[in-house]
This record gives sequence, C-alpha cells and structure tokens, in this order.
Amino acid sequence: MRTIKENQPLSQLSTLGTGGVAEFFASPESLEELQEILRFYAGKCPVFVIGGGSNIIIPDGNIKGLTISTRNLKSINWLSNFTAEIQSGFSLPLLLKTIRGRNSGGLEFAAGIPGTIGGAVAGNAGAGGKGICDFVDEVRALDSAGNLRIYRRSEFDYGYRRCSISDEGVIIVSVLMTFRESRAEDEKEFSDFMTRRRNQPLNSRSAGCTFKNPEGYSAGKLLDECGCKGLCIGDAVVSDIHANFILNRGKASSSDVLRLIEICASKVYGDMGIKLEPEIKTLSPCFCV
Ligand code: EPU
Repeated sequence: MRTIKENQPLSQLSTLGTGGVAEFFASPESLEELQEILRFYAGKCPVFVIGGGSNIIIPDGNIKGLTISTRNLKSINWLSNFTAEIQSGFSLPLLLKTIRGRNSGGLEFAAGIPGTIGGAVAGNAGAGGKGICDFVDEVRALDSAGNLRIYRRSEFDYGYRRCSISDEGVIIVSVLMTFRESRAEDEKEFSDFMTRRRNQPLNSRSAGCTFKNPEGYSAGKLLDECGCKGLCIGDAVVSDIHANFILNRGKASSSDVLRLIEICASKVYGDMGIKLEPEIKTLSPCFCV
C-alpha cells in the first residue's frame, strides 16, 4: 500500500523524544484512507495509535505491527456558532485559539496544554478540576475492521484523566463539541492557567505531568518533598523546576524514563505511604491480533 512506510523511527512523534522504530507506519489524511488501511491490516498485526505524542512513552526497539499517526486528520467543520465536528488530529492549542477568536469560551483551563483533540478526549485532558470531555457531545471512532461507531454523550463516561472510550478498542477519528459564548471571567481564567504553566519546564523535552494527583495531594509537591528533583537515569532527569516532570536532557531512552518513574513512585510510597499512578501512558496496541 502506497501510504504505508516501513521501519519508521517514532521518537520524533513523541514530545519526550524517545522510543523505537515502527515496523509499519501510516499517517492517513482522510477518514476513508484510514478505513482502507484498517481493512487491509484487520486481524493481521497489532495496531498502535499516536496523537500529539505529548502524553506517551513509545517503547524502545522494534514495534511490531502498524503504527498510525492521526496528525494529518486535522479538519474542523463548524455546524453552528458554537458546535463543531473536529477531527482527532486537530491541535488542542489551535482549538483554544480558534474558539477564543470566535468569541466562544469554556476551554480556558486548556491554556498551555499541548496535544491533539483525539488524545485530549481519550485521556480527558484538563486542569483545575475541569476536563475536555465536558464539552463533547459525540465521539466518532473506527473499530479494528474500519467500521464507524458513534458514541453519544450518554454512551461514555469520564473522570479525572480518564474516558471510557479509551477502553473500547477503537480509534477516535472525530468529536462533536459544543462551546458557549465567552464571559468576562474567561480572560482571568486563561491568564491564571498560563501563569501556572510558567512553573513548568516547558522548554525541555517531556511528556507533561508524570503522575496523576492523588486525591487531596499534589504529585509534584510529594515528589519534591521526597527529594526526587534532579534524580536521573541516563539522560532522563526529574525537573528542578517541577518535580512531576521527567525531562529528556539528550539521549534518554524510554526504558531510562520508565525506570525513573518506578524509582520516583517507590520513593513516595516508601516515604509517605502514598501510591502514585502514572498519568503518562506507555504506547500499547489499540487492536491486537
Ligand atoms: N509544587 C511543589 N513542588 C514541585 C511542583 C509543585 O511544591 O516541584 C507545589 C506547587 O507549589 C503548588 C502545588 O504543588 O502549590 C501544585 O502544583 P501546580 O500548581 O504546578 O499544579 P499541579 O497539580 O502539579 C496540575 C496538572 C497540570 C496542569 C497544572 C496547572 C495534574 C497531574 N497536573 O498540576 O497538568 O498543567 O495543574 O493547571 O493534574 C499534565 O496534565 O500533563 C499537566 C502538567
């Protein structure tokens, strides 16, 4: 198939800049192209999906099977003043900019969050107790045979950094979202979230926050109090600016990062008795054989 590449290095598709090589790789530009690819590969090999790559660790070595990047599925279609169908590869920062430019609001909490809409919905990306799924009316996804499935709002549930659709074994291709008219208080919220982002190491390679905040605690504060800042394995290092960020300061591998995550979690468990759960996901198959 013309659109399939072989032996494609994947590290540049993750903001962390680590990871191995995909046996087969595709970056389809339309829903139909993705359907055709899935029908060709259906049941023959594992299928992996990468969105914006800002919240994942891609394993080192050879990744057998087909890896799909959604970055070329990036259209937005306004159905009314406040409602749009947005393809999964559309950038979240660009969405925020677009709706602010249309005098719509509600998404200010997403200020500074990288990634694509598909990834943001799959993990209910958010901040300050708010999440992107609050604005989703409908999710459109493909199953392993390339068939379209539509999940209405009542057919999925979500919570802090989770959405049930990511357990369904489907690829999110687009979402229907409804925003609201902008309000005076939106500007303050936007600048407050931007300010909080300034306490994060945004100029270094990372996959964002490493751990979820355990109920009633801040993971960054716990890691800081347990002396994790500056801990390193190879070129993977815990940020001195915000302890919930692991940085790739050069040639880190994904296994360096994963070992460092384990060390940090066991330090917090040993010192405080609190179990930290990773927020970053390790790339795993969306469909297996
Ligand atoms: N803190 C420390 N030391 C550190 C880091 C933080 O003492 O090394 C303290 C801060 O001073 C503050 C508290 O911990 O008092 C909370 O820190 P912060 O304001 O940075 O918020 P957070 O809970 O660590 C959350 C989200 C971020 C989001 C920010 C800002 C999670 C796990 N993290 O961080 O999301 O950007 O709020 O809105 O929910 C992400 O999802 O990748 C992410 C980075």
